[in-house]
Amino acid sequence: MGRVVVIDHPLVQHKLTIMRDVNTGPKDFRELLEEISMLMAYEITRDLPTEEVEVTTPLARGRFRMLAGKKIGLVPILRAGLGMVNGVLRLIPAARVGHVGLYRDPETHLPVEYYCKLPPDVNEREIIVLDPMLATGGSAVAAIDFLKERGARQIKLMALVAAPEGVRRVQERHADVDIYVAAIDSHLDEHAYIVPGLGDAGDRLYGTK
Ligand code: PRP
Ligand code: URA
Repeated sequence: MGRVVVIDHPLVQHKLTIMRDVNTGPKDFRELLEEISMLMAYEITRDLPTEEVEVTTPLARGRFRMLAGKKIGLVPILRAGLGMVNGVLRLIPAARVGHVGLYRDPETHLPVEYYCKLPPDVNEREIIVLDPMLATGGSAVAAIDFLKERGARQIKLMALVAAPEGVRRVQERHADVDIYVAAIDSHLDEHAYIVPGLGDAGDRLYGTK
């Protein structure tokens, strides 16, 4: 069973609370999502392998740790996942970025694929799937299905707000995937929106309705 890590750092929680507020507009919403994504990237990369290298400081020669060069791939789920990319890239600038386009059918709430473009060496990279909302889990499960069909073997999921249903669904369908979230909220409403949540993340990011 994959791990579920709730990043309850005070800065993350403070920024998330502002994002939840219905009065927060798209500019602040975008900036906060980018900032939280950067903070979450710090946690999600905690287990990256390091190696010792020799460095000469102004005073002495010594051996010190650096990243062992593991390749990373970021895969935002369009559209709302795009809002997380720049924050993560600030900490991992060498990461390659693939895109999976999915939208939830408003009637069935099932994900519909409309785009997929991934780095060619997706099988050699640790993949971080980005999507702020993990509601029913349908979109995340579908995106991870696509990634595995195209060869990805090491996948983590980074979301901002999850419903317990979505967490369970990903754990059941992809037991090898660790899930990182800033909050697990109460439940889904009859339209499969997360309650209390923050509303429609894509609309709030881009000012659409
Ligand atoms: C939202 C969100 C997730 C999905 C979550 O996307 O960004 O991708 O819903 O719901 P699920 O867990 O029930 O699948 P949406 O379909 O609204 O598309 P958008 O990002 O283009 O607005
Ligand atoms: N997608 C969103 O953007 N918000 C939700 O609460 C559920 C799905």
